Amino acid sequence: MAKAKTLYACTECGGQAPKWQGQCPHCGVWNTLVETVAATAPVRFESVSGARSTVTPLASVTARATSRIPTGLEEFDRVLGGGLVPGGVILLGGDPGIGKSTLLLQAGAALGAAHRTLYVTGEESAEQIALRAQRLGLVNAPIELLAEVQLEAIVAAINATSPEIVVIDSVQTVYTEALASAPGSVAQVRECAAQLTRLAKQRGVIVLFVGHVTKEGAIAGPRVLEHIVDTVLYFEGDPHSSFRLVRAIKNRFGAANELGVFAMTERGLKGVANPSALFLSQHAEGVAGSAVVATLEGSRPLLVEVQALVDPVQGGMPRRLAVGLDPQRLALLLAVLHRHGGVDTGGFDVFVNAVGGVRILEPAADLAVLLSVCSSLKNKPVPRKTLIFGEVGLAGEIRPVQRGQERIREAAKLGFTTFVIPNLNKPKQTPENTKIIAVDRVEEALALLRE
Ligand code: TYD
Ligand code: MG
Repeated sequence: MAKAKTLYACTECGGQAPKWQGQCPHCGVWNTLVETVAATAPVRFESVSGARSTVTPLASVTARATSRIPTGLEEFDRVLGGGLVPGGVILLGGDPGIGKSTLLLQAGAALGAAHRTLYVTGEESAEQIALRAQRLGLVNAPIELLAEVQLEAIVAAINATSPEIVVIDSVQTVYTEALASAPGSVAQVRECAAQLTRLAKQRGVIVLFVGHVTKEGAIAGPRVLEHIVDTVLYFEGDPHSSFRLVRAIKNRFGAANELGVFAMTERGLKGVANPSALFLSQHAEGVAGSAVVATLEGSRPLLVEVQALVDPVQGGMPRRLAVGLDPQRLALLLAVLHRHGGVDTGGFDVFVNAVGGVRILEPAADLAVLLSVCSSLKNKPVPRKTLIFGEVGLAGEIRPVQRGQERIREAAKLGFTTFVIPNLNKPKQTPENTKIIAVDRVEEALALLRE
């Protein structure tokens, strides 16, 4: 424990001095200073239970079954792992205008019926929230509003009204008087989030933070926020399309990488229960440079069209651009294509894009990227109704991906008939009316474009 600091306090005015002196520096009266112990600063970081912790064997700790509170939005529940958990702290990040406030107002309105919900708005006025509620047809939603940015006032309101669910929109606008730095600074955001998180754990309140995303795509201010909270969700999607994806990056109460799919409509966000075919464009004929991959984001397969455009360099360095796909991986795939497929893209600009603003993070898309690039370069379409997946290794081998059967089944349901897949993913039985092209090497896969 830190040694208590001694101070000298004036018996006349209560003023303090660090050293004894004859005259009080505040009121000027003589011989009034007496030694006192500095009042200890309030404990900011006491343990979660509030009591002193003891060492206990794991076996003697009883885990309470956590009951989940459904949010009324099925797709949101899916990313959360079944609903909200009391005491759970969630961070929802995303670009401005993507729909964070809309989602939380809709969820809050549904939750408010059975659980007292407080919506703290720091970015918009209560009137603006009311206007949004009107648009969503939620004017009579059982939700309480607080337009406030000062942490101490927010904490006081939570203590006074004891809500079960608190939305903080956004965490970047909240500031505490205890720190001199400006609102939105790393220190402020971190401190405010930490204090609200501690409050959530102590009171069993669910806190949902809205967080802004920087140009680089990280939640503004501190990455530390991601360590403080239990669940990190990212809202993504192409602002020009109406589809929105909510992705779980981290979840202490459920699977990470789960995906919720919404459509932004005139009256708010609507869940898309069956999204597998959303990210396919409708081409009447096969077009060069297009390949369809089945990715597994979370628990559901998603069919996404990967498009490539390979065009001779117009002077200068060849450009490589990947939208929705990893640019590093693109460079790697082009090298594999050159070395093992004998296809040189050195004199060409290469652009690849995952349709619909989706981001494909898994390497299962490798083979589709490679074939779309080749298809564009040769101006030869991949045969229609063909689904492609597989990870490409540096040695030119095609590696298996997880849950290949599920991907095939989903695509077959949507009418795909040809499957270019890793040999190790080959199903024991070929589904009816389908052709399976199981490949071990890049060269074999490229034969598809030679036929
Ligand atoms: P908003 O929730 O304010 O985004 P964020 O809080 O992430 O900044 O959503 C804003 C966008 O959504 C805005 O461009 C308007 C659009 N929108 C709709 O299309 N339909 C609706 O019903 C609502 C409420 C918003
Ligand atoms: Mg907002």
